[in-house]
Amino acid sequence: MFICSCNGLTDKDIHAAVDAGATRPQEVYAAKKCRARCGNCVPGVVCMLRQALRDQKALVALSNAVEMADRGGHLRAVA
Ligand code: FES
Repeated sequence: MFICSCNGLTDKDIHAAVDAGATRPQEVYAAKKCRARCGNCVPGVVCMLRQALRDQKALVALSNAVEMADRGGHLRAVA
């Protein structure tokens, strides 16, 4: 889905930028080697960026929990 029609920035580009370490809107644009022009997309980019960062944080927490369980952590005791 296109988020920025001026630059052809998509939701996949935003997720790729977050995976590469972007945490701010300008870093998302820079990852695509562009910058906001008209600015109409900025609220959408900010919204998608926040969601992608939340998703990434949740994935890391889940991964850490699984790793803890694999090492005999408290999740194993529950099973
Ligand atoms: S729609 Fe993104 S800069 Fe114009």
